[in-house]
Amino acid sequence: MITASAPAKVILIGEHSVVYGRPAIAIPLAQVRATATVLPGERGSGVWLLAPDLGRSYRARLDARGDALAVTVFNTLAWLDQPPDLDLGITVHSAIPLARGMGSGAAIATAIVRALAAHFGVEAAPAQVSDLVYRTEVLYHGTPSGIDNTVVAYERPVWFVRETGPQPLTVGGRLDFLIADTGIASPTKIAVSDVRRAWQADPPTFEALFDTLGDLVTQAREAIAAGDAPGLGRLMNAAQAGLARLGVSSPELDALAQAAVDAGALGAKLSGGGRGGIALALAQPEDSERVRKALVKARAVRVLQTRLEIGD
Ligand code: MEV
Repeated sequence: MITASAPAKVILIGEHSVVYGRPAIAIPLAQVRATATVLPGERGSGVWLLAPDLGRSYRARLDARGDALAVTVFNTLAWLDQPPDLDLGITVHSAIPLARGMGSGAAIATAIVRALAAHFGVEAAPAQVSDLVYRTEVLYHGTPSGIDNTVVAYERPVWFVRETGPQPLTVGGRLDFLIADTGIASPTKIAVSDVRRAWQADPPTFEALFDTLGDLVTQAREAIAAGDAPGLGRLMNAAQAGLARLGVSSPELDALAQAAVDAGALGAKLSGGGRGGIALALAQPEDSERVRKALVKARAVRVLQTRLEIGD
């Protein structure tokens, strides 16, 4: 029996504009993970997918082009030079809330790729895993930038540009983040396609907004490298304003961001697709508990904490 796992992720800054070629920064959330377990199946049983968290258990069909789990399995078997008519049982679990901009789809797919590769004794390089998971992301998102599969498969903070791929991020000092879940499921695909429609209706306005967001990301990279938490916080606030103008914030996200800042956070913004999902706040370590309480009071259904440190 082989089990492999993969982390959730948060976009620190640059969501949506990254789809249009601007940079973005994302970090893995190592403590919240999806896992996949592979077991040999009975002779003639075919590939079975068991996803008890989703209440699903079924025989995967090679022609089920819209089934993200099955597509991930068969793409991976093809990459491993294995025939599709194997007898395998693949069980998937995930502690990552669905449709919250935390990369649950990418993490589940990454866990499946890693577990299948390990089952066949193959060491899967992050770039290869990322490429396979990107093909699954296309099913979930339509036009993904590739940042989710990249940060999850590489499992390290990344600077990402669609054209050039990932680069490591230099972290010059400790940065403490709080991740507040609105509890509202919001498929990324819908927010991304709404932005696309708005961009098609008014390219100059939206290109200018993407440029502004992209500039904030470039400045954020410098602030992170310098360990400048107040500077990064200001950039996050500016990004939240830009994302609201793109039309991807929501009253719940605005309320969480405002509550965090009122409680002393250095900055706060939505993270991921928006409309629901999560807000991300940056706080000085001594203010984190006050900000956490304020987020709960502002109706976050859960608050997670993570940090970037020198050497990440
Ligand atoms: C989703 O985590 C981030 C978006 O920018 C979509 C994408 O990059 O594919 C909203």
